[in-house]
Amino acid sequence: MTADISTPTSSSEPGAEGYRQFTLGQFTFRRDEYFAYVGWPTGSHVMSVDAFLRAIQRDIAWDFFYGIVNFDGVIGTTNHYGTVDLFAGRYNESYRKAELDYSELIDTPIIREQFKAVLDDWTNQTFDPFASPHETGPAFGVKNGSNTDAVTRRRVAADRMVNLPDDEELRTDENGNPVNRMFLDVAQDQPLVEVEPGFEKEIAAFNLFGYLSRSQVTWNPSVVSVCRDSLFCPTTEEYILPIIHGNDRVEWFLQLSDQITWEVEDRDTGHVRSRVVMKAGDVCAMPADIRHQGYSPKRSMLLVWENGNPGLADLIASGQAPTYPAEF
Ligand code: PHB
Ligand code: FE
Repeated sequence: MTADISTPTSSSEPGAEGYRQFTLGQFTFRRDEYFAYVGWPTGSHVMSVDAFLRAIQRDIAWDFFYGIVNFDGVIGTTNHYGTVDLFAGRYNESYRKAELDYSELIDTPIIREQFKAVLDDWTNQTFDPFASPHETGPAFGVKNGSNTDAVTRRRVAADRMVNLPDDEELRTDENGNPVNRMFLDVAQDQPLVEVEPGFEKEIAAFNLFGYLSRSQVTWNPSVVSVCRDSLFCPTTEEYILPIIHGNDRVEWFLQLSDQITWEVEDRDTGHVRSRVVMKAGDVCAMPADIRHQGYSPKRSMLLVWENGNPGLADLIASGQAPTYPAEF
């Protein structure tokens, strides 16, 4: 069932545990000490609230990302770049067969603002949804302050490249980015670049490993270089990717350090397709018809290479471009 209505939003006064309840169209959202509850006209769903907050944090920070952001096997969003489907059971074979799936098409600014309000109200001062579980306090309990600075962190998105004049700056101790506890062995020296006069705004270099060793967040790719539609989006990972990403295009992974195991499933049914174990130096391409979730037992460095071409998703969906990257 799909509803395409004007999608009014609202929020009510706090319930017994101190958290507000929210609606988006006919979806309802409430939390208690341990769980987030999502309701819709044909069903309801429950998630651990820490997992829910980690997922909604990524969905907001990435502005609904490429394709599908599954919070788990039931709830999630599909980006139509201007509008967003909020769905329940849409990519779950059992819900589909039982005709219990439900979705609503919502203008992006409306769902963005309501999701931000949910995240801000439901995140206590002890919890940082971007941090690894080892580096944050609990998400649970009755309402206990807020952590607005953490949940509104700006994602790094370079126009050309980090460290070029007028673009994103390097991370340092001084600007609040100490080296992470797991990357204390990463060299911090910077390359020496001798620029021909007149090219000062065009030529630069930086130590990417040093840069990543100072990332304060996990599972949050930042854009460090842009060349037309080619986006280099490295990130540091620890524990579990808080969402299951359904691709609408091919993306490449370069494992820069340590190890991540990827569980890869069919995007539409959730059927298992493969498990990919990536060790430092491994490269793989994730097809455009899968969904995947990564597991990183130690903090690791991953380069996600995205094709930002705005026409690509439609070309692949209509069969004019393949779901895989190369013919062997
Ligand atoms: C992905 O879905 O491809 C993805 C998302 C976030 C990450 C890494 C990979 O940190
Ligand atoms: Fe992905």
